Amino acid sequence: MAGDDWMRTEAPSKAAVNLDPGTAHIARMYNYWLGGKDNYAADREAGDAAMRAYPDLVSSVRANRAFLARTARYLAAGEGIRQYLDIGTGLPSANNTHEVAQDIAPDARIVYVDNDPIVLSHARALLTSRPEGFTAYIDADLRDTGKILDGAAETLDFSRPVALMLIAVLHCIPDAAGPYRIVKTLVDALPPGSFLAISHPPSDMTDGLNRAASSMGPKMSEPVTLRSKDQVARFFDGLDLVEPGLVPIQEWRPDSDLEASAKAAMWGGVARKPPS
Ligand SMILES: C[S@@+](CC[C@H](N)C(=O)[O-])C[C@H]1O[C@@H](n2cnc3c(N)ncnc32)[C@H](O)[C@@H]1O
Repeated sequence: MAGDDWMRTEAPSKAAVNLDPGTAHIARMYNYWLGGKDNYAADREAGDAAMRAYPDLVSSVRANRAFLARTARYLAAGEGIRQYLDIGTGLPSANNTHEVAQDIAPDARIVYVDNDPIVLSHARALLTSRPEGFTAYIDADLRDTGKILDGAAETLDFSRPVALMLIAVLHCIPDAAGPYRIVKTLVDALPPGSFLAISHPPSDMTDGLNRAASSMGPKMSEPVTLRSKDQVARFFDGLDLVEPGLVPIQEWRPDSDLEASAKAAMWGGVARKPPS
């Protein structure tokens, strides 16, 4: 395995990375909303302000984790996918991508990517592959597609289908950074038969979430960009959305009526790259 410090099969200690506790970070706020302990006062303050503006935020975040699990399972069981590139991984939680995929396909290979030092410091919990498969972690920014693709190629075979998972991360990329170009560059690197899975907080579902985003923005290291259904649909240009298309995440192949009725505000979809 690579010895470079950005390509990990072992995680560094927390003390070895700069965790910047004075500013709210999305990975730690998300951890707070999920009931985790890896967050600081600044994250909880920004997280509480957002919850006051949009009281269904915690339910929405939980529904997003359920969407992540359903898409990873669908791709492994329904589409035979054995390779995953999960960018914007987040702090380890229940049902991480490799756990869901390897439950179905123990030989699945997963590359995780995140740019937050606290996620890096906890990466060990993501590097728990079954012996038949493999997991790796790359410390990289989604904007740095060259670094991600070069690093992922050490674990994934880009001549075979790959599932690109961009779950609740594209809102961290402002329009000025060219999010559509970034996604296209990544998708262009994948062979036909690959998949793109996206969830994205909406600008057009509830005023509460728009207020939450405005309240969080000034407290965060990087503000978030909510997008409308049409704006999220553009990420799938040139790809074939699988049923039921781009929908509220709780309506994407829910496992139960309870899941389908979850209070959540997030667009979600999965699409296949067609033959060129
Ligand atoms: C809201 S969390 C989502 C975590 C996980 N994908 C999920 O849906 O449960 C967003 C994650 O994306 C990461 N992130 C934000 N901006 C990023 C960027 N530019 N490059 C890589 N990761 C990023 C954050 O550090 C955080 O861990």
